[in-house]
Amino acid sequence: MAVERVLSGMRPTGNLHLGHYHGVLKNWIKLQHEHECLFFVADWHALTTHYDTPQVIEENVWEMVIDWLAAGVDPANATIFIQSRVPEHAELHTLLSMITPLGWLERVPTYKDQQEKLASKDLSTYGFLGYPLLQSADILIYRATQVPVGEDQVPHIEFTREIARRFNHIYGRELGYEEKAEAAVKKLGGKRGALYRELRTRYQESGDDESLLSAQAMIEEHQGLSLGDRERLLGYLEGGGKIILIEPEAKLTPASRMPGLDGQKMSKSYSNTISLRENPDAITKAIRTMPTDPARVRRTDPGEPSRCPVYQLHEVYSGEKTRDWVQQGCRGASIGCIECKQPVIDSVLAELKPIQERAAGYAEDPTLVRNIVADGCERARKLARETMRDVREVMGLDYN
Ligand code: TRP
Ligand code: SF4
Repeated sequence: MAVERVLSGMRPTGNLHLGHYHGVLKNWIKLQHEHECLFFVADWHALTTHYDTPQVIEENVWEMVIDWLAAGVDPANATIFIQSRVPEHAELHTLLSMITPLGWLERVPTYKDQQEKLASKDLSTYGFLGYPLLQSADILIYRATQVPVGEDQVPHIEFTREIARRFNHIYGRELGYEEKAEAAVKKLGGKRGALYRELRTRYQESGDDESLLSAQAMIEEHQGLSLGDRERLLGYLEGGGKIILIEPEAKLTPASRMPGLDGQKMSKSYSNTISLRENPDAITKAIRTMPTDPARVRRTDPGEPSRCPVYQLHEVYSGEKTRDWVQQGCRGASIGCIECKQPVIDSVLAELKPIQERAAGYAEDPTLVRNIVADGCERARKLARETMRDVREVMGLDYN
């Protein structure tokens, strides 16, 4: 197995909160010690939905980078950059668009979902339809092998794999190899040869594993093939040409359903977040006023932790001992809700304290942040240029 290269991006959506920290950033921070990592701000992707309010982008970009750094993404271990500073992403996007069937884009589930969800915006744009393809360019241009993402993004990674496969199929053929393989296909006979071709195309263009298996079985069963031809036919099935763009794998972020202040998943759209840089008094107040088990009206009423959003936070932040204390104290009405919330408040504040201290340092030194990003952009661009050189060559664009 080749060395892994990890790449992930985030749209600049404003202040990051504990949901981002537990769901995404902690994972990035772990990965940066295990593999080569590239993390970038997807500012062009923000324009696909916010094309009419571009002023929000600039501030969000820098604030988000500060949050990453404060949380522990380390520029010595990971390349941090901004999509629009590496214009090669756009060039690859254009070139890939030539081979992307419209139907593939229309079928990506986020396309219709998001259009419906954001019905107040006109998202019947070319850019919005192309969102997954731009994402494919982001990934393929770095020949990333692993893309840590949440569940909702998995179809985009699948789509990216299909694009890479199609690209390699169209542009990755090696001449001598192909002729020999074609001669071997003829030896299969007319009917089988045609079936072989059909299965091969189906597998290579859409990754249909059934087709691959049937074709392999057919070759295994066919009598009278030389060992060389058999190997050639098997290899040719799976490409047999050059691999120019690498098929990435989705690396599902370990499930973290960070609960928000109301028990639903923490998300800006539910207004139930705790921002990483929220001040401690506001955090204390927000947790103190959190809803609890609705059946526990008076202090003397017994409650049930499994019906209480506060308990969900205990599940993230408290050890067994504290959780037992809550369970018994709540069910027996021996503790009050304010008392019960205090360990959560303490843990959240303790978790955020070093993050906030680091964030303050970066916020005071914009030049430092700009330099970190400039350095990351330069490193990313070098990698992107190498891929584009190969892409241009196989697409016949390296003429003088
Ligand atoms: N679409 C991703 C999201 O909304 C952001 C993104 C853009 C991305 N390009 C990417 C993520 C490339 C991983 C790799 O979360
Ligand atoms: Fe919720 Fe704790 Fe109050 Fe029970 S005691 S209802 S778990 S806040």
